[in-house]
Amino acid sequence: MKQVLLILLTALGIFNLKAQNHWQAPDEAKQLQNPFSETVEAINKGQKVYKSLCASCHGDKGAGNPVMLKTLNPPPADLTSLAVQQQTDGEIFWKITEGRGVMASYKNMLSEEDRWAVVKYIRQLGKTQTASDKKNKAATNSNKVESFAFSQLINAKTTFIRQAKGFGFGIQHRFGATKFDENMIKNFLGLDLASNIRFSFEIPVSKRLMFEIGRTRYGKFYDIGGKYLIIKQTKDEKYPVSVAFYENIAVTTENAPQYSDQATFDDGRPFEYKFYHRLYYDTQLIISRKFSDKLSAQITAELVWRNLTPYVMKPKEEAYVIAVPVSLRYKTGFTSAIDLEIMPNTHHRTMPISLAYEIASSGNHVFQITITNSDRILAQNLFFNPTLRYPKDGFMLGFNLARYF
Ligand code: HEC
Repeated sequence: MKQVLLILLTALGIFNLKAQNHWQAPDEAKQLQNPFSETVEAINKGQKVYKSLCASCHGDKGAGNPVMLKTLNPPPADLTSLAVQQQTDGEIFWKITEGRGVMASYKNMLSEEDRWAVVKYIRQLGKTQTASDKKNKAATNSNKVESFAFSQLINAKTTFIRQAKGFGFGIQHRFGATKFDENMIKNFLGLDLASNIRFSFEIPVSKRLMFEIGRTRYGKFYDIGGKYLIIKQTKDEKYPVSVAFYENIAVTTENAPQYSDQATFDDGRPFEYKFYHRLYYDTQLIISRKFSDKLSAQITAELVWRNLTPYVMKPKEEAYVIAVPVSLRYKTGFTSAIDLEIMPNTHHRTMPISLAYEIASSGNHVFQITITNSDRILAQNLFFNPTLRYPKDGFMLGFNLARYF
């Protein structure tokens, strides 16, 4: 007896569930033929009916009026869904004719012709929806992963290459050194002091290649750079990292250094300033990885070369610096992030450590407030100049601004 009751209750439960979730048209409805073919007239006629009688619940585009979706139980069916679109015209016609629950029967309200026409219009809604679905899917389901949002973090280049047409414009600005003492207010956090600035233009050529040109105040450097994306990180982890190659050549247009008349090169030849002495090179292999929606990291193998080493430096300096910069970006919100760069290298008095707070970064622009221990920006300049030692020597405030057009 108890068992029978149990079976009965279960059967009732299943029946109830079925009645709630699945609305099945009878087999004979499936065979009903729509007298309309897919003509503009039929679709227009159906659209008129739909707009006046159905859109209030099923929404303008068929996916459901948001208010009704929340208030009605069961909610109005998504007419663009596969579940509806896979039914025959006859089944849909039958449901409109018969109705169920809040969804009224339209047997008496609409002529048979009107009901068939609205079925044609529901087909149309299904098509447009699928088309836009596909587009969205292509955009969001891309297997590619972007570790960084811009081609530059604070001073470091990233693996990012702008995918759209157009160009980018950037300003990197560093104010003078300041520290926590009585002068800090006097020099307005260093903003009154001499400052360095680099303007740059960025030209994306393809999804993998970009060029940039820049002009930096200190050293009066003009630089031209190119970046090629060799590997792009993918969601399926086939490629766990992005890898890019970057090369930049900078020419200083400052006056020739003034050494004594007796100055010689190492091999004894008398010193003479030639054009190639003005050239500085920066070569990078950048490896980045996005670890999560919030955290991205990057490590670079970098060689910076100059054709002329200062004559007067003691101890004598090398013509090159090898660096292994590490960069981190941690998103603190939808449009904000904290960036950190540490750049260990072979120069004996240089250790760039920079911090930035990104405000209002979007797909098109970024604004960062930076704290650095060097006012040099271009790698060719940054790695050959001693950095401040935190916190003893103080720090430099600055900002980076980038905008894509
Ligand atoms: C008052 C709100 C409301 C209006 C107006 C309305 N519907 Fe519905 N419709 C519903 C709800 C709710 C359901 C789900 C019924 C269920 O599953 O019990 C539904 C279900 C349907 C289904 C069945 C989908 C399926 O699951 O197979 C079709 C087809 C449909 N509506 C078409 C129309 C058409 C065409 C009109 C206008 C002539 C219309 N509806 C007007 C609320 C509405």
